[in-house]
Amino acid sequence: MPGGDRVDFERLLERVALVVQSRAGNTAALQTVAELLRQEVPHYDWVGFYVVDREKPGELVLGPFSGAATEHVRIPFGKGICGQAAARRETFVVDDVSKETNYLSCNPDVKSEIVVPIFRGDRVVAELDIDSHSAAPFTEKDRRALQELCRIVTPLF
Ligand code: SME
Repeated sequence: MPGGDRVDFERLLERVALVVQSRAGNTAALQTVAELLRQEVPHYDWVGFYVVDREKPGELVLGPFSGAATEHVRIPFGKGICGQAAARRETFVVDDVSKETNYLSCNPDVKSEIVVPIFRGDRVVAELDIDSHSAAPFTEKDRRALQELCRIVTPLF
């Protein structure tokens, strides 16, 4: 069974909603959400948020994340999987990163990636980025749950 089908996303989203409602600062709350996802979902090996730069709206800046440090702290729209998702304004799943030519590698262990844009009105304000060390682990359940999660965390941006 693919990873995503084994996860109780409903319970996870309830926990995320509680974090958003808690009166922690936005950065602390996003950090907690990133850690929660990485801890609770075995095929999520790096979880982070990229935020659209207010001064340079065509660039993403690394925000709170859980996992290994990355050199990709600033990514222009259109570049890599993150930049492509921001430019296309839609969720981007890459089952095998070795086959993606427009890809920014952070870590040789990463095999797959999902990026979900976060909207305020019709503007992309941020993204959720998840890397996995498993091949093709993301299912329709992951995609739907993470899109819902991105709606839940929108007030934090
Ligand atoms: N792999 C991403 C870069 C960010 S890291 O995954 C943390 C990309 O291709 O955009």
